[in-house]
Amino acid sequence: MASSTRNHPLAITLLMLTCLPTSSSKEPEAILLLKFKSSLTNTTSLSNWDPLVQLCNGNVSNWNGLLCFNGEFFGLRLESMGLSGSLDIRTLFQLTFLCTMSVMNNNFQGSFPNVSKLTGLKGLFFSNNHFSGELPDDIFTGMKFMRRILMANNEFTGKIPMSLLGIQKLVELQVQDNQFDGRIPAFAQQDLRSNVANNRLEGPIPPQLSSQSASSFE
Ligand SMILES: *[C@@H]1O[C@H](CO)[C@@H](O)[C@H](O)[C@H]1NC(C)=O
Ligand SMILES: *[C@@H]1O[C@H](CO)[C@@H](O)[C@H](O)[C@H]1NC(C)=O
Ligand SMILES: *[C@@H]1O[C@H](CO)[C@@H](O)[C@H](O)[C@H]1NC(C)=O
Repeated sequence: MASSTRNHPLAITLLMLTCLPTSSSKEPEAILLLKFKSSLTNTTSLSNWDPLVQLCNGNVSNWNGLLCFNGEFFGLRLESMGLSGSLDIRTLFQLTFLCTMSVMNNNFQGSFPNVSKLTGLKGLFFSNNHFSGELPDDIFTGMKFMRRILMANNEFTGKIPMSLLGIQKLVELQVQDNQFDGRIPAFAQQDLRSNVANNRLEGPIPPQLSSQSASSFE
């Protein structure tokens, strides 16, 4: 199961093609990234984050866990690094070109960070951690570029947020292996593939999703 929520290299590569800045910031990206790093613990994998080294060299990042395109930083891919801590989302708001964010396969716990101002994101990858608690219903409101949300295999409870219904471009949603309850929201997005299996959901499968394999709903 974990393998289905792991890396999506192609997907992440495609994400960068149409990113636009959503806000402007005066602080250099390197300073903001180091500020963000200081909210994390067990950061040995990020020991090459050095303000004297430029972030990107063409499509290659000089800093572990950064995604680069033509010399520009556009995403964080902090996967399988043994990270935990508090995820300083306020600092990320100021990273104007942040387009995708992954912290999959780490040791994060506690409530889900309030990502609702990261409206430029196209991908949010939080699977395989220990996040818990309820998600505010409006947490995904206004995320008009969002395409992929992976939150599988955590300890989320409560309802699946209705604000997911408003994300027109959503093509992939993985919330399996949590403790969500209530009904499956009536998703109507054309190309959405979703997996809601292994929760405490009840009620009918929305018509738009009924062509998917039964294992997505177990
Ligand atoms: C980055 O990758 C794109 C797509 O593969 C390519 O078109 C571009 O030339 C690359 N840029 C650099 C600086 O290598
Ligand atoms: C710290 O990270 C390393 C990998 O970078 C990992 O092997 C180790 O388990 C982590 N420690 C804790 C306490 O999470
Ligand atoms: C999350 O952030 C948004 C925007 O800053 C704010 O309106 C909302 O009240 C916050 N929600 C929670 C649960 O803190």
